[in-house]
Amino acid sequence: MNMKKTIKDYDLNGKKVIIRCDFNIPMSNGIILDDTRIRASIKTIRYAINNGASVILLSHLGRVKTDEDKKCNSLYPVSLALSNILKKEVLFSPETRGKELSRMVSELQSGDILLVENTRFEDIDGNKESKCDKRLSKYWASLGDIYINDAYGACHRNHASVTGIPLYIPSGIGFLVEREIKKINGILELNTHPFITILGGKKIEDKTKLIESLVKISDKLIIGGAMSFTFLKVLGYNTGKCIISEDNLSFCKKILDNYKEKIILPVDFVCEDAIKEIDEFDDNDIGYDIGPKTIRLFDGELKDAKRVILNGPMGMFEDSRYANGTRKVFNILGKYKIKTVIGGGDSASAVNNLGFNDLFYHVSTGGGATMKYLEDRKLVGIEVIEDAEK
Ligand code: 3PG
Repeated sequence: MNMKKTIKDYDLNGKKVIIRCDFNIPMSNGIILDDTRIRASIKTIRYAINNGASVILLSHLGRVKTDEDKKCNSLYPVSLALSNILKKEVLFSPETRGKELSRMVSELQSGDILLVENTRFEDIDGNKESKCDKRLSKYWASLGDIYINDAYGACHRNHASVTGIPLYIPSGIGFLVEREIKKINGILELNTHPFITILGGKKIEDKTKLIESLVKISDKLIIGGAMSFTFLKVLGYNTGKCIISEDNLSFCKKILDNYKEKIILPVDFVCEDAIKEIDEFDDNDIGYDIGPKTIRLFDGELKDAKRVILNGPMGMFEDSRYANGTRKVFNILGKYKIKTVIGGGDSASAVNNLGFNDLFYHVSTGGGATMKYLEDRKLVGIEVIEDAEK
C-alpha cells in the first residue's frame, strides 16, 4: 500500500473538515452498550478542533432498509456521548441532507463539532449510501473543504461516505486508521517464528479467503469455534447436530489435504451436559465450547509462538457456561507474552467482556475490515485516499 496523506498533512485552520468515523456501536433502546469505537475516534476529532477546524462527523449505524429501522438506528445518542467525552457541545443534524443541514454547516465556527444523522438513512431511497451514489457523494463533499477517513471498521465498504466523498475534495486518513494499519502491518512484517493464526467463530463461509491467505504465511493454523466442525466432518467424525457448512466441505478438504501438518483442530468439546471427545459424539450432540484437552493441546502449540493473529471466539462466549475456552486461550497468549493482534468484531467483544483489554499488542476496532485487510492487504476506503507526496 502506498503511503497515504494523513490529517497532519493539511493546514486545518479555518477549514471545514469532514471526518468519517465508525460509530457503528452496539446499542439497545438508545443506550450505548460499548463506546470503544467512540473513544477510538476522539484523537482525530480533538486534533482537528485544536488546529482551528470546524468538524462535520459522518457515520453509519446498523442496516437501514425501512422507516422502522430508522427508529432504532439514530446517531443522536452518540452526539451526547461525544459531548460527554469531549466536554463540549456537539451539534446534531437530524437530516442527512437538505436546507437545515446546509444552514447548520454554514454557521459552524472554528472548534465547532456537528454530527450528521446516520448516513444509511440514505439507503431507504434506493441505497444511495451503500451504492456510492455520485450525487450524494458530491453533495456531502460540498459541505467541507477536506475529507478525513477515520472509520477503520468501514474501510472495506464502497459507500458514498467512505469512497465517494474523497473523489471530490482533498483527503487523508485519521489517526485511528493510521494506527490500525501500522499495528497489523507490524505483526505481518515481523520475521519472528513460530507465527500462529487462531481462527474461531461460527461461519466458515465468511472466512474462506482469510484462511487461504493466512494458512500460507502461518507456521500453524489453530481452528476453534463452531467452524471447526466442518473440518472435523471432513475427517470423518460424527459432528452430531453441530452446524456444518455443506457448501464448504470441499474447501475444508482442500485445506486439510494441502496443509495437513499446519492445521490444529479441537479434540474435545463442552456439550450441554458433558465434556465429550470428538470421537464420542452421538447424533444429538452439539459442542458449544472447546474442552480441557483441546485447551492443553493449544497451549502446547502456542508455548513457543512469537506472533499470533486471532480472529473469532473459541465457543459461545456470550453464555458464561461456554466462555472458558475463549478465556483460557486469551490467558495462554498473555502467559507466554505473545505479540498478538485480535481481529475485531466478536473477538474484540470477547476481549472486552472477559476483561482482557490491556493484554494485547493490538485489539482492532474493525471486524470485516480487518479480515479484508488480512486477505488482500488493501481496503477500498484507504486506496481512494490521496497518496502522500514522496
Ligand atoms: C463493522 O461493524 O464491522 C463496521 O462498522 C461495518 O459495518 P457493516 O458491516 O454494517 O458495513
